[in-house]
Amino acid sequence: MRKPILAGNWKMNMTAAEAVEFVSSLKEKVKDVTEREIVVCPVFTALRPVAEVIKASNIHLGAQNVHWEESGAFTGEVSAEMLKDSGCEFVIIGHSERRQYFGETDQTVNGRVKKVLEADGLTPIVCIGEKLEERENELTFKVVETQIREGLKGLKPDDIKKLVIAYEPVWAIGTGRTATPQQAEEVHAFIRGILSQIAGEGVSDEIRILYGGSMKPENVSGLMECENIDGGLIGGAALKLDSFVSLINYCTMR
Ligand code: PGA
Repeated sequence: MRKPILAGNWKMNMTAAEAVEFVSSLKEKVKDVTEREIVVCPVFTALRPVAEVIKASNIHLGAQNVHWEESGAFTGEVSAEMLKDSGCEFVIIGHSERRQYFGETDQTVNGRVKKVLEADGLTPIVCIGEKLEERENELTFKVVETQIREGLKGLKPDDIKKLVIAYEPVWAIGTGRTATPQQAEEVHAFIRGILSQIAGEGVSDEIRILYGGSMKPENVSGLMECENIDGGLIGGAALKLDSFVSLINYCTMR
């Protein structure tokens, strides 16, 4: 049984004070949810204050990026140990906005994933997904396969087992244009197939594959009914308390 994850990717939004206010209300509203893993991923400066509010609750903390070195002359970067020290249990790696604006490649994703796994206790949420022109040119499966094989290169099945994958078609992120359940499931099933090839069926059966890209209360039901969709990485709809709570609650009723 794969326990679904509902993860809010807050991107560059909310000051520490706003984040604390948000999670204080969220904590109250979701306190009875046990069958779903709830994750919030604030900006770095809000991690510690949010960790204080959600400690001993059912809400988990995630960061939005991590560096592949432990420490040193890397101005502006944060290491896996530092994230753990701030109370994080998850970290998003290779988000398409990092790939698009900050030079993230499958090789840098690979470095970050390896370092995070070494740090132990921090779960990478590895993001993959095709751009619109790639989909239109029928390159979706090729792009996604390369991102997985390169991003996870050199990892042992036991390491791969610890990952969460997020399939986020770039054309659906922040656009209001969600993948249909059929479009998403087709790629999720393909991803699980690739994971099975590189890590074995036992491992691929256990890995949670999240969908991301304009997931909201109106479209969550169709997506979550799909066999290979194990939750969501949610941007815009996770910034509003009511919509994030209804996404979580919908999934509770699944
Ligand atoms: P969105 O963002 O839900 O606003 O489309 C998802 C993401 O970028 O992780």
